[in-house]
Amino acid sequence: MLLHFILSLYTLPFTMALGTLQNPNTSAISRPNCPTHCGNVTVPYPFGIGKDTGCSLDNSFYVTCNSSYKPPKLFLGSTDDNIEIYSISETEFRIHNEFANRCYNRNGTISEDYDWSIELSAFTFSEKNKFTVLGCDDYSIIRGRNDGGEFSSACMGVCSKAQDVADNGQCPGVGCCQTSIPKGLNYYNITLNSFQNHTHVWSFNRCGFAFVGEEGTFVFQGTNDLSPEGGVWDRIDATVPVVVDWVIAGDTRNCSEPSACKENTSCYVVEGGGYRCRCNNGYEGNPYLDPGCQGMFQIYQYRLHSNYYYSGDYYY
Ligand SMILES: *[C@@H]1O[C@H](CO)[C@@H](O)[C@H](O)[C@H]1NC(C)=O
Ligand SMILES: *[C@@H]1O[C@H](CO)[C@@H](O)[C@H](O)[C@H]1NC(C)=O
Ligand SMILES: *[C@@H]1O[C@H](CO)[C@@H](O)[C@H](O)[C@H]1NC(C)=O
Ligand SMILES: *[C@@H]1O[C@H](CO)[C@@H](O)[C@H](O)[C@H]1NC(C)=O
Ligand SMILES: *[C@@H]1O[C@H](CO)[C@@H](O)[C@H](O)[C@H]1NC(C)=O
Ligand SMILES: *[C@@H]1O[C@H](CO)[C@@H](O)[C@H](O)[C@H]1NC(C)=O
Ligand SMILES: *[C@@H]1O[C@H](CO)[C@@H](O)[C@H](O)[C@H]1NC(C)=O
Ligand SMILES: *[C@@H]1O[C@H](CO)[C@@H](O)[C@H](O)[C@H]1NC(C)=O
Repeated sequence: MLLHFILSLYTLPFTMALGTLQNPNTSAISRPNCPTHCGNVTVPYPFGIGKDTGCSLDNSFYVTCNSSYKPPKLFLGSTDDNIEIYSISETEFRIHNEFANRCYNRNGTISEDYDWSIELSAFTFSEKNKFTVLGCDDYSIIRGRNDGGEFSSACMGVCSKAQDVADNGQCPGVGCCQTSIPKGLNYYNITLNSFQNHTHVWSFNRCGFAFVGEEGTFVFQGTNDLSPEGGVWDRIDATVPVVVDWVIAGDTRNCSEPSACKENTSCYVVEGGGYRCRCNNGYEGNPYLDPGCQGMFQIYQYRLHSNYYYSGDYYY
């Protein structure tokens, strides 16, 4: 009995993989005749490439693949909207990050000042993002809005000597400050300010710096991250995305529409508005597209009972 149990656990992943391979329709990604990829980014329906091409559910899910970039880049809406998408999952997508910064001259005058704001028309920023401020004489304010109204929060990066700044990856408020943002924002802006115009810390920190990005992707490297020469800007650009939650607009009533979710799926309403479909347990595929989700479980059962992996000695 025990041996049987252990064997089942051991072979389960293999049978599942086989099931997937044997069923080409489990890989229905986009609508028929619509591109499934842009460069190496997969574009699953309800997202679809091209405006009014019938590839996306509606205009909020329309994306553009711009092949003048090598490799091609995917954008939410048009290229001009300038929101580059790195990846799309069943509930989220990740986009390119931008940051606010303010740099000072030795005498305390501002040499560079860049505030940042971003607005999404149909989706919201995920709670998985954190607001991070880098600097030794800086406070930054993030302001945003969601259905409930306005939101604002601030974070303060303070230190007096370079030696006080730890480089153990933590962001404790000394040179680096991190805080959460609420769920459901569809807009935010970031501004930076300084207490003493960096005049006391200028030798090792002449800029303040603030951004929103996926938790865990930014690891603070101490004083290295307090000057632009340390490469922190490029690192954030390349490794810290912003996570966006996507839903289909609507409510519980949409779930009961026959067109909402396909076979072997369930429809669920998302807190904050909208709904999504998901494959039932043991099924795989795109729950928004025909033929619906396909049963890996059925295939697994078949293999189990046809004694595919078990020798007679161990099989009950
Ligand atoms: C997969 O689905 C497409 C479209 O729904 C259909 O034309 C095709 O015959 C299916 N292939 C298999 C192997 O079921
Ligand atoms: C896509 O390609 C880029 C650059 O070629 C690479 O950095 C990135 O890791 C790739 N992403 C995936 C999901 O393969
Ligand atoms: C692709 O991007 C380039 C550079 O930003 C832009 O000039 C061009 O119009 C874009 N093409 C499309 C199809 O959006
Ligand atoms: C401050 O320094 C900058 C750059 O060195 C210089 O251009 C500016 O004139 C200075 N301003 C004052 C008030 O000294
Ligand atoms: C920043 O966002 C807040 C909240 O939505 C808004 O009241 C404010 O006008 C925005 N500031 C700028 C400069 O756009
Ligand atoms: C910082 O600079 C601003 C404008 O450049 C100036 O108005 C302010 O007085 C300065 N503050 C300090 C503490 O030097
Ligand atoms: C959701 O339901 C509303 C009202 O019944 C309808 O107008 C809308 O088109 C539906 N959305 C989808 C995606 O079917
Ligand atoms: C959905 O699941 C049932 C068993 O629960 C199966 O008979 C049916 O073929 C599945 N539909 C599709 C499209 O895979």
